[in-house]
Amino acid sequence: MKVVLASKNRHKLVEISKITEKFDMELVLQSELGVDIDVEETGTTFEENSFLKAEAVMKATGLPALADDSGIAVDALNGEPGVYSARYGFDESLDDWGRLELLLKNTEHVPDGARQAQFVCVITMVTPDGQTIQARGEIHGELTREPRGENGFGYDPIFYYPPLGMTTAELSPEVKNSVSHRGNALKIFYEKLKEAGYADK
Ligand code: IMP
Repeated sequence: MKVVLASKNRHKLVEISKITEKFDMELVLQSELGVDIDVEETGTTFEENSFLKAEAVMKATGLPALADDSGIAVDALNGEPGVYSARYGFDESLDDWGRLELLLKNTEHVPDGARQAQFVCVITMVTPDGQTIQARGEIHGELTREPRGENGFGYDPIFYYPPLGMTTAELSPEVKNSVSHRGNALKIFYEKLKEAGYADK
């Protein structure tokens, strides 16, 4: 069964394929099918946005489609930046590093002990016959006051993960995947595919 990944990101294809290849599924990027749609992420939850992306690509291709949506939610900011993580500050001149610095600045007033944050990832698969399979993964940590570590991307250098005593930018990709929101969402997604009757190869 061919499944389209609603993304242009080949790294995501490689990571998610590790799960889908356990089933009778061939994951292809939407661009490989000549589909060039950028879905507006108008939802207010990770669930809504990943569903919107998967549904649009399913409709454009007539094939089952899979999408993810992720971000960082800071408790002291009532869950912000949340679904707006990639657009935080709504300033197009900001890059990943600029957004990270903005988040540090906006949490300067938050005392140690109250700096809890979560990375969240929701994966959704939508099929043409109307089935939706959705899985949410989280990783709980704390915001640091200074960036640390060279790995990862986005907000990783300021996300401290207490069980390993490091920021997620200090973890190797393998270790990060084994504890991350995306890794956890993929494990749950795997279980849900089995529950939905997809045969484990
Ligand atoms: P998406 O591509 O719409 O899911 O946007 C996700 C945004 O959330 C990224 O641009 C990052 O800023 C942030 N983000 C999601 N996952 C991670 C992660 O594993 N590390 C660091 N930042 C992340």
